[in-house]
Amino acid sequence: MTKKTDLQPYTWKKKYELNHELFDNQARKFLEIINIMKELVARGVDSTGISEVFFQLTHYFERYMIQEEIYLKELAYDRLERHYKAHREFMDKIIAFREGFERGDKDFSADMYEYLEKWFDDHIMVDDRRAVNFIREKSKKS
Ligand SMILES: [Fe+2]
Repeated sequence: MTKKTDLQPYTWKKKYELNHELFDNQARKFLEIINIMKELVARGVDSTGISEVFFQLTHYFERYMIQEEIYLKELAYDRLERHYKAHREFMDKIIAFREGFERGDKDFSADMYEYLEKWFDDHIMVDDRRAVNFIREKSKKS
């Protein structure tokens, strides 16, 4: 991603596709959240806007990440523990950002925006893609 907080939202690209319905749905959802955050950082963070982002991220965690974990557990994913840990660290980080916001920390929003982009690039595009490849290989064998 570009790490630029202009007003241009990200659009879904073919190269983002993981070719798995569950994973693609959540990647698209995450990109939507990034876009909300992107606009907020570019225009100036207000408490209604940032509360919405925190709400959506919590929902994302509960709705998608947990579902992904259950699914990967059923398939005996070989890196389940590591993946599980990464998800927990993600949510801990979001909670820390929220605390930063509540404390009035001025830098939290730019840091959080950068973190969300990094999560998309490093986790969704790499770790989740690896999990999808595992699922694909496993289905070939069975
Ligand atoms: Fe994941």
